[in-house]
Amino acid sequence: MTKPLVVDTVAALRAQVQEWRRQGLRIALVPTMGALHDGHISLVDIARERADRCVVSIFVNPTQFAPSEDLDKYPRQLALDLERLAQAGADLAFTPTAGEMYPAGFAMKITVDGPSSGLETDFRPTFFQGVATVVAKLLLQTTPDVAVFGEKDYQQLCVVRRLCRDLDLPVDIIGAPTVRDAHGLAMSSRNAYLGATELDIARQLNTILRDAARALVAGADAPSATATACEALTRAGFAKIDYVEARESGTLGPWQRGRGGRLLAAAWLGSTRLIDNVEIPAP
Ligand code: PAF
Repeated sequence: MTKPLVVDTVAALRAQVQEWRRQGLRIALVPTMGALHDGHISLVDIARERADRCVVSIFVNPTQFAPSEDLDKYPRQLALDLERLAQAGADLAFTPTAGEMYPAGFAMKITVDGPSSGLETDFRPTFFQGVATVVAKLLLQTTPDVAVFGEKDYQQLCVVRRLCRDLDLPVDIIGAPTVRDAHGLAMSSRNAYLGATELDIARQLNTILRDAARALVAGADAPSATATACEALTRAGFAKIDYVEARESGTLGPWQRGRGGRLLAAAWLGSTRLIDNVEIPAP
């Protein structure tokens, strides 16, 4: 088991990437905010299949958190993360400080319209601006051939694809299937906030979404299938539902009955917000 090289400056990252490029190697990037779980490790596995060297960034990006959100309590466990990355065979961990990523006077914000409209944006209006800005920086700092993002954050994946397309960034964006526990709960660093009772409730989210997706495929209209899903989530014990919505799967435009798509949801358990999504298969 070889430990990944750990660098915390853009200059050191670029020097290593340049050396790998000189050797003719392909490079993959897995952007993360740390607190690594099996979902992240599956991204590293995919990155290693697609490239010769795998860079994992670990940076809890302050610009994607609203002042009311959990930036301060977001789990941070660098030593454990580095152990997991060593086991997974990652080659380099990029662990910049906020000052390295956003030096004094930093004045750039990237706004992506299209796939960022609605869903998360209705509840976290500045979230995708923070994500798009930091992802653009990480891609320009690393210049990878491929970058891997989880489908768990499906709207984020669509926003990142659009960012790269519209800025002509020469990178393949790979969407990786969501890793779930034995009960269907999507792996998330925020699951660490859940107590035992909340965990039981959280585990029903995916089942309820899958039932709704089946109803849509069977011909239900979106308003009634999503209303049924919201009732089921409330019955299960979710305190508040931000949205359950069916969308077209690439652009995230409106879903049309009789077509494939994606059903996306966000709901609260106490002070923990969970998101998930499932495919609506084409009938
Ligand atoms: O999905 C995440 O962990 C973050 O939003 C990302 C892509 C690493 C950007 O900070």
